Amino acid sequence: MEQVAFRAMKDGTREEYEFLGGLEEEWAGGQAGRVLEAMASLDGALGGYRVSRLTHCLQTATRAERDNADDEMVFAALIHDIGDVLAPRNHAAVAVGIMRPYVREEVTWVTEKHGLFQEYYYGHLVGRGRNAREAHRGHRWFDSCANFCERWDQAAFDPDYDTRPLAHFAPLVEDVLSRPAWRAAG
Ligand SMILES: [Fe+2]
Ligand SMILES: [Fe+2]
Repeated sequence: MEQVAFRAMKDGTREEYEFLGGLEEEWAGGQAGRVLEAMASLDGALGGYRVSRLTHCLQTATRAERDNADDEMVFAALIHDIGDVLAPRNHAAVAVGIMRPYVREEVTWVTEKHGLFQEYYYGHLVGRGRNAREAHRGHRWFDSCANFCERWDQAAFDPDYDTRPLAHFAPLVEDVLSRPAWRAAG
């Protein structure tokens, strides 16, 4: 079979859906390569800072790695701003969508909330106040997200920092995205 015969899903056969399932598995297997390509495209995203968006992400991940963060958290640090290209008004949701099937719930929570927690560093300078994160004070992962932002994300705008290249993180991306999807949260 090269392609299915149906023109509406309700008309498909078991054989056709098995055929499509195989193709979906094959396509999913190329996810890491596509994520790395999307990371590379961040090089041209959002100017004005002293580092490119790609360098910011690489530096966030480098800092996390040097802090001995676990591999899921380093992965999150690497891709946390990957949504800046296609979803600049909702960028964290893109990274969350990519990682959620593969990493523990803490990591997706931290990634989802990082933008709000980042406001601690500049919200008061742009008329929004800096304490939006207080809405989550007491949450079991508050400190984890505060640490993510304080030690890695907000600090990763230094053009003189020894930032590791994207190729350094490619095996990690391959590894995380080849784990069994939708592992139990914990
Ligand atoms: Fe961000
Ligand atoms: Fe960031």
